[in-house]
Amino acid sequence: MERVKIFKGFERFWHWTQAALVIVMLITGFNIHGSYHLFTFEQAVDLHIALAWTLIGLWAFAIFWHFTTGEWRQYLPTQDKLFAVAKFYAVGIFRGEVHPYRKTQWAKHNPLQRLAYLFFKVIISPVIWVSGLLYLYYKFWPEWGLADVPLGVVALTHTAAAFAMLFFFIVHVYLALLGKKTVFTLSHVKSMITGYDEVYEEGE
Ligand code: HEM
Repeated sequence: MERVKIFKGFERFWHWTQAALVIVMLITGFNIHGSYHLFTFEQAVDLHIALAWTLIGLWAFAIFWHFTTGEWRQYLPTQDKLFAVAKFYAVGIFRGEVHPYRKTQWAKHNPLQRLAYLFFKVIISPVIWVSGLLYLYYKFWPEWGLADVPLGVVALTHTAAAFAMLFFFIVHVYLALLGKKTVFTLSHVKSMITGYDEVYEEGE
């Protein structure tokens, strides 16, 4: 194994900025929803919309980065070892078994991670983004020929995507803090801060 830089500067910036923004979007979003009253409704809406634009801007840069660096290939789904990895997290890890996946620089995500991140990028984020923008520009719907669409459908879609994002976030943090034999570890968090991680050499 060798210690190499697997998370580039922009990737780490994008990851942590997105994490912070998503947390505040969840807090303000569920405040708007009426789940609690940390902020007034108006404050929550103002913050939610200001940060939504920041998030959309960040996503635009991230999409550009993924395509110009070729890093998008890291998210191509594969069935190879998919079930072995799922079985490992469901059972094997509690029995002290060894992780079946061998991380390399050009395949840094295990097959389950690839699927989860692809789902996040291709389904959850675009749904929340499009439904949020539709929600925001509700008054233009008649001009756009959307007068017959009930607002409730868009609101429900946006809230459902927010629940999906919350679920992703909880599972992501659980797995990120999981070390060998279910022992808590900060090593994965550290590698997303420093960029360095231990990986197998290609073909090893
Ligand atoms: C991580 C991303 C996001 C999360 C978790 C999130 C979550 C939420 C939730 C839970 C609500 C309350 C929905 C309801 O009860 O009807 C909401 C409302 C709203 N969201 Fe988002 N949202 C996100 C991103 C966005 C984006 C990108 C936009 C685009 C501009 C947006 C615009 C809005 C608008 C306009 C409302 C309604 C505010 C009002 O009632 O005046 N959101 N959001």
